Order: sequence, then structure tokens, then C-alpha cells
Amino acid sequence: MSNTRARLPQPVASEHIALKARNVSFSWDSTPLHWLPGDPFTTHTINVLHLLLPAGERWFVHVYKQVLPLIRDERLREDVIGFIGQEAMHSQAHDEVLPHLREQGLDPTPYTAQVDWLFEKLLGDRTLPPGKPRQWWLMERVAMISAIEHYTAFLGDWVLNAEELDRRGADPTMLDLLRWHGAEEVEHRAVAFDLFMHVDGSYRRRARTWATAFTALVFLWQRGARFFMENDPTLVDGKASFRDFHRSGRAGTLPTTGDMIRSIPRYLSRAYHPSQEGSTEQAVAYLASSPAATAAEARANGAA
Ligand SMILES: [Fe+2]
Ligand SMILES: [Fe+2]
Repeated sequence: MSNTRARLPQPVASEHIALKARNVSFSWDSTPLHWLPGDPFTTHTINVLHLLLPAGERWFVHVYKQVLPLIRDERLREDVIGFIGQEAMHSQAHDEVLPHLREQGLDPTPYTAQVDWLFEKLLGDRTLPPGKPRQWWLMERVAMISAIEHYTAFLGDWVLNAEELDRRGADPTMLDLLRWHGAEEVEHRAVAFDLFMHVDGSYRRRARTWATAFTALVFLWQRGARFFMENDPTLVDGKASFRDFHRSGRAGTLPTTGDMIRSIPRYLSRAYHPSQEGSTEQAVAYLASSPAATAAEARANGAA
């Protein structure tokens, strides 16, 4: 019996929370180009989020709207609706950083045009015959989102605990954007996996789409960091290398290489459930003190 149990996902029920989108807004006027002072590499490695997430999270929403009619569980449906609301807001908030980068001489358009193509065309709705082929492609994308959300939760948990960013004087507005988003990623970290298990749950598909998503994330991330470093108008011969990444991980300004590697077998374990990782309590505590989230709450209450 213990064998069977070990092969099933083990959710931690106390980590579940009802989700709500917070209508945040940020003012970027006083955020410097290198918002982590004296560290363009870390700044730009984290800035890749602003390149990937607007199109990526819009794509999540697009795919999930197609899955909603397939959900046969009321609580999961509520979770997915809450997830859609949060991701739509994340996409918009990161998109609003891009004009600020442009004003500072760093135009991300050549890179974001490729990312938009990837999510809208390559991963978009293909012209497939109705029935099995269309269903197959939808399930592939649902599984891919589950794998990506393993990493957004990982990063969310990391940034909530990345005290080195505070110690090094990171711009408070950027830090709040990252932590508000990170906290909501932790809050909703089980939704994509639960949805995948509900509508499909095939282990082979989980493993296969993890490999695709992980490879794509590493590829896109290192390209994005290199793009920013090479086009940063204040840098002469700016470069980004894996050695820089490893060094920043050891310094505590980025996740460590070891933590990232250790996260792989956890997702691939048959007993994995996202609620085993990160802390909803910590996420909720951050959101209760986040300047952007509390201002959004006050506006929502004022309007009610
Ligand atoms: Fe998000
Ligand atoms: Fe998410």
C-alpha cells in the first residue's frame, strides 16, 4: 500500500487558498536602469522576466479559457478563474516596464517580437481537425503550463526569500513588483498542476513537456540576458555567461545552480504536488505588506 501511495501526488491541504487578482500599478519614474546597484548582470537576468512574461502569461490565459468547459470540479474551476485573473494582471504589470526600458535607451522590441511569435504562432491554436488532434494539442499546452508553473513558483519562493537583494539596495519598486508577482505565484502554485491532473494526468506527457519547457526556458533566458547585456547603452562589450549566473547564485542575488538542478527530480517525482514547495503563509504575509498590493486593496475597497 505504501508503494501505491508514494506514486500518487501528495497535496498539502493547508496550503490551498482562494485566489483573487490584485489590480496593482507601479510608477517607474525613479527606477534606475541598473535597479540592482552596480550589478547590470543580475539586473538584466531578472529583467528577462519582463520580456517573457507579458506574452507567456497572456498565452496561459488564452489556453485556460479553452480548458474551462472541460473542468468537472467546482473548486478547481474557481481556482482556474482566480489563476486567469492573476496571470492577466502579471502580464500587464511586466509589460508596463518595457516603455521605461525604452526611455533609458534599451529597446526590447527585437527580442519581444520573437517571444510574441513563439507564444502566439508556434504555441498558438493550430489549424487542426476537431476531435483528437485538437484535444492532443490542448493537453500538450496544459501540461507545458504545469511545468512552467513549477518554475514560476520556484522563482516566487526564491524572490520572497532573497534578502541579499535588500542588502544590496535593490530598487524598492522593482522589488515590490517581483515579490507581489512571486507571492501570487506561490499562492496559485498548485492550480496548473491540479488542472493538468484533472483533465489528463499522463505521466509520460508530464515528463515530455517538462523537458520541452525546461529547455525552452534555459534557452530563452540566456538569450534574453545576453540581449540586454549587449544592448545596454551604458555597457561597453556587455556579456552574460553561465559563470556569471553561477557566481550571482552563490552571492544570493539569483537562484543557485544547485537549487535549480535539485528542483528537476522533484517535478518528475510521481508523488510531487506543488503544495509541498513554498509557503502560502509567507506569500499572504508579503501581500499584506506589499505597497502595490495594499494600494490595490485600498482602491478596490474605495470603489466598492
Ligand atoms: Fe504570473
Ligand atoms: Fe503563475
